[in-house]
Amino acid sequence: MGSESPNLKVVRHPLIREKLTRIRDRRTASPEFRALLSEIAELMAYELTADFPVREVEVETPLMPTSGVELSRGVTLVPIIRAGLGMLEDIMRLVPQARVGHVGLYRDERTLEPVEYYWKMPQDVAETDVIVIDPMLATGGSCSEAVSKLHAVGATRVRVLCLVASPEGVGRMLEDHPLVTVYTASLDERLDDRGYILPGLGDAGDRIFGTT
Ligand code: PRP
Ligand code: URA
Repeated sequence: MGSESPNLKVVRHPLIREKLTRIRDRRTASPEFRALLSEIAELMAYELTADFPVREVEVETPLMPTSGVELSRGVTLVPIIRAGLGMLEDIMRLVPQARVGHVGLYRDERTLEPVEYYWKMPQDVAETDVIVIDPMLATGGSCSEAVSKLHAVGATRVRVLCLVASPEGVGRMLEDHPLVTVYTASLDERLDDRGYILPGLGDAGDRIFGTT
């Protein structure tokens, strides 16, 4: 795993890079796009959770007692609807005990500002490790808004998992939330004049759900 700053971890695993190349391809249709996104999400979640704390527990094998571990804290997965849903399922498979909080945000096409339309968190979110999930970190407005709201309800251990980030989005997160680490598969070049990431992969929600 490479790391450009303490707040940005670029996960450069060869399998992730290979899958990201295929997902960027304009010819990749929704079914394959969804499968690749899910596979990358699982691989990235494996890296993101690598330092989650554990405590020792006793377990009895069919032959004898031995010691093992369990996660010390609960985990809350927070997909930003819509596109974040495309990364949720395989991460849930990896951390089946996690609870899921949903944030509904869309980006106003004209102002590029996030507009919230849904919010539902588990009651104990403040005590858990929180992973905000969204494939695209463009201006950073949507992600920053989601993290601000999580902080407002007491969450302190928040990490962000995205597929592709722009320098602008990473800069925005660093400025608004200096204690939050962003995990991404790629730090891309820049935003275009409509706020799309270049080279990026286009509109993630549209490609996942076939709404182009
Ligand atoms: C996309 C993406 C992020 C947001 C990123 O969602 O999934 O949530 O844009 O842009 P930002 O960093 O500039 O805020 P979109 O608004 O297209 O909504 P959708 O997921 O419902 O398609
Ligand atoms: N949202 C997307 O889906 N793609 C981008 O490049 C920027 C925002």
